[in-house]
Amino acid sequence: MDLRRQYDGLRADVLAAIARVCDSQSFILGPEVEALEREIAALTGAACAVGCASGTEALWLALVAAGVKPGDSVITTPFSFFASASAIVRAGATPVFVDVDPGTLNLDATLVGRRLRDRQATPTKPGNVRAILPVHLYGQCADMDRFDRIVHEDAQEFGVAIVEDAAQAIGAEWRGRGAGSLGITAAFSFYPTKNLSAYGDAGIVTTSCPGMAEHMRQLRNHGSPRRYYHYEFGWNGRMDAIQAAVLRVKLGHIADWNQSRQQHAATYDRLFAESGLTSRQASDQTSDHTSTQGSAPVRLLSRSPQAKHVFHQYVIRVQRRDELRQFLADRKIGSEIYYPLPLHLQPAFSYLGLKAGDLPVAEQAAREVLALPMFPELTEAEIQWVVESIAEFYS
Ligand SMILES: Cc1ncc(COP(=O)(O)O)c(C=O)c1O
Repeated sequence: MDLRRQYDGLRADVLAAIARVCDSQSFILGPEVEALEREIAALTGAACAVGCASGTEALWLALVAAGVKPGDSVITTPFSFFASASAIVRAGATPVFVDVDPGTLNLDATLVGRRLRDRQATPTKPGNVRAILPVHLYGQCADMDRFDRIVHEDAQEFGVAIVEDAAQAIGAEWRGRGAGSLGITAAFSFYPTKNLSAYGDAGIVTTSCPGMAEHMRQLRNHGSPRRYYHYEFGWNGRMDAIQAAVLRVKLGHIADWNQSRQQHAATYDRLFAESGLTSRQASDQTSDHTSTQGSAPVRLLSRSPQAKHVFHQYVIRVQRRDELRQFLADRKIGSEIYYPLPLHLQPAFSYLGLKAGDLPVAEQAAREVLALPMFPELTEAEIQWVVESIAEFYS
């Protein structure tokens, strides 16, 4: 990923925005953050947005505002960045990992529904499951139709909230509705490699509920609605004005950038198909979904027809993944593994008592996924070089 290409095009605007903040001498929250909050709320279709220090902080705020309390459980995916689950722990709750859909690698709604219904199989009482936290992995929304149905029909008596981890999904949609407006609260990250990125750490929470937004404003500022009066234990989770100013410059480009990512994904798809390397893995072809050793050396993930995918990552599943990665690195082609060890097998979560083999779809994915170069300024010739190199590796 080459962030410099983006910076070269934006340098004058970004430096002017930073100068504006320096001239104002207002460095934390303030008018820049408030303007960004309005603009992100408008982009996502949520009623309110609350700027904060990082995506991790945003997840904690989103969970606490949604009513997650010590002793509760939150169902989430084992195939995500650590923060998706560590934020649950920081809210005092216990993550309940449920396996992912073999096609999209997003949290499997059918398994979640089953887990909620099956009181015996749930390690904590279903009544304690306060929220479901789907992650819109790689920029594609999880199956929000089915999560909605679970929450509003199947599990209505339990009062379960949907909290979106939209860290990778700014601008993504599900049936035309923006990520960030699909659950009761949603967390976004503006980490420097994200589709919309700050020049440091920053994040934001969106919500459909103004009361929750007020609560989160208090929580991000030491539980203090007014200076030196503290009503609860919050934290310093505030956003810097400089980050908000940079983000506001970039926000004007996010639609074009996401469109470029979609074009690059289409180019990869086409070139892989022409090379004969791929077969697409469909969600509904689940007869043998824990084994990915099909005949094609490269397999694409499924795309949900209801989703507008913003390709934070373009990820393939491959045989001999680590050898291929080294082969690409030797040609100076960057690639990354999101994620090499599922969360239920992380040492930090050993207290949950889960073991290898418990969540086989996520574990198999961890052995096979490879993220290829994906950023708006990537050229078609570069994509061609990546696919040609992969073809050469398997020839
Ligand atoms: C899915 C997911 N959740 C949460 C986070 C945490 O965001 P941050 O790094 O801004 O704290 C990230 C990004 O790093 C992420 O990819």
